[in-house]
Amino acid sequence: MTKRIVVLISGRGSNLSALLDAGLPVVGVFSDRANAGGLTLAQQRGITTATLSPRDFEHRATFDQAVAAQIDRWQPDVVVLAGYMRILSDDFVQHYQNRLLNIHPSLLPHYPGLNTHARALADGMKIHGCTAHFVTPQLDSGPVILQGAVPVHADDTPDTLAARVLRTEHRIYPQAIHWFLEERLHVNANQTVSVTGIDAAQQKLFFMED
Ligand code: GRF
Repeated sequence: MTKRIVVLISGRGSNLSALLDAGLPVVGVFSDRANAGGLTLAQQRGITTATLSPRDFEHRATFDQAVAAQIDRWQPDVVVLAGYMRILSDDFVQHYQNRLLNIHPSLLPHYPGLNTHARALADGMKIHGCTAHFVTPQLDSGPVILQGAVPVHADDTPDTLAARVLRTEHRIYPQAIHWFLEERLHVNANQTVSVTGIDAAQQKLFFMED
């Protein structure tokens, strides 16, 4: 039976686009912002969308329960965060334990949270990148599936660096999700991830172009 992916977004949805271009079976897209560009993109491709506004809920927990109810109507095998800009309640994360993935724009555990590109530049980092990982209750800290690294150039601004990292996100996230759907990902007791048929050296991509 075909696997089912639900994608959560808040914004433009370029990662969502990359997943669709990779032919991944996305059955539903949820956004916490009704004006998210990614919703239009999904609708143009005939994918069902749904939105709920956190402003209509008193507590994070009740909002997350309503979101989970919507997601579960789509009966996903995996829930994929793609620029979903909300802190998740522990109950939500637990509900989707081992089937909730995220893409983060840094080489975790460096730079969890926001403004990762400006922080990497301010620190004089020479290498930066992105991480596809399982989601755990602690923000941006779950087991790492795949990382992509890019050079930082002397004349980079947060925007030019973000654009280079984003191109890498679009390469690694579809790959990580493919591996998940093929049931090749195994979270080891020490919280590292191994991939059936892939040695550890292949769980990273280096992009030295531009
Ligand atoms: C990406 O940089 C992603 O890593 C971060 O939010 C951004 C979303 O971009 N979590 P998009 O909406 O996929 O274009």
